[in-house]
Amino acid sequence: MPNLEFPRHLEKTFAEPRLVWSGQRSCVWMCKNGDNHDKLAVKLSPSALAETRALQRIEHENIVELVKLPTLPPNVVVTRWIEAPSLWTARGFQASLARFTEVLRPLAAAIAAVHKAGMVHGDICPDNILIGQEATGLKLIDFELAHFPGQPEQSTGQRSRGTPITISPECAAGNLATPASDVYSLGCTAYFLATGQPPHTGRTSIEICYKHLKLPCPPLKSDGLSNKLCTLVDQMLLRDPQDRPTIAEVAAELEVG
Ligand SMILES: Nc1ncnc2c1ncn2[C@@H]1O[C@H](COP(=O)(O)OP(=O)(O)OP(=O)(O)O)[C@@H](O)[C@H]1O
Ligand SMILES: [Mg+2]
Repeated sequence: MPNLEFPRHLEKTFAEPRLVWSGQRSCVWMCKNGDNHDKLAVKLSPSALAETRALQRIEHENIVELVKLPTLPPNVVVTRWIEAPSLWTARGFQASLARFTEVLRPLAAAIAAVHKAGMVHGDICPDNILIGQEATGLKLIDFELAHFPGQPEQSTGQRSRGTPITISPECAAGNLATPASDVYSLGCTAYFLATGQPPHTGRTSIEICYKHLKLPCPPLKSDGLSNKLCTLVDQMLLRDPQDRPTIAEVAAELEVG
């Protein structure tokens, strides 16, 4: 359980801290930059250094922007504050075709940029997507599990620890996420966007992870979406990572509609 008090030694750098999130390992405060009063998200987490390193390697209009400040302790990562609810908080709507592609296109573009940079996000889920009003308003956040396959020294050293409702079968089995795992998690997120429910539900995290590990996802049925888009989501959710489309293929399909 993280400490919910804003650390005294950060009060010179950050003004007016307001706690907005306390999770299993991290706390996030909305603060003002002590110098220019810009709004910032200040996250205290044991993986902050790895998250900072990952964000340093990527710049994209749909990815949260790292704010570089001198002499920050290694357990602090600072990003530009985004005034938008998460896709999870905004749940409850049935996606229209327009809404579905409006969210999925910039999200796929963000993940494609991550993969192009040689990185895997590792935790694509509705909680980690903040959705503003316009396409450029969508931001992918939370690079805590991001890693660079093939560069062990750059990885966070974490094994599977994704979000149960969007975890891939291979990560549920304890393997490190790959680009294909991000595609599966995007498929779960798309399924959630289309139906208001993730493909597998359960009473506990273990039960949900077990279903991802052992069971195929039910095919997506949605009145608002074309058969082509439903099939694309079903393909992202295939159990064998090699059978799933790449994120570039997903992005290209979404462009066509
Ligand atoms: N830049 C930001 N702007 C606005 N809100 C943010 C920002 N960064 C994080 N948040 C808020 O804080 C929440 C938690 O952040 P994040 O997803 O990075 O933490 P986490 O790694 O999931 O935490 P834990 O692993 O402890 O559960 C987000 O869902 C979002 O509501
Ligand atoms: Mg998160």
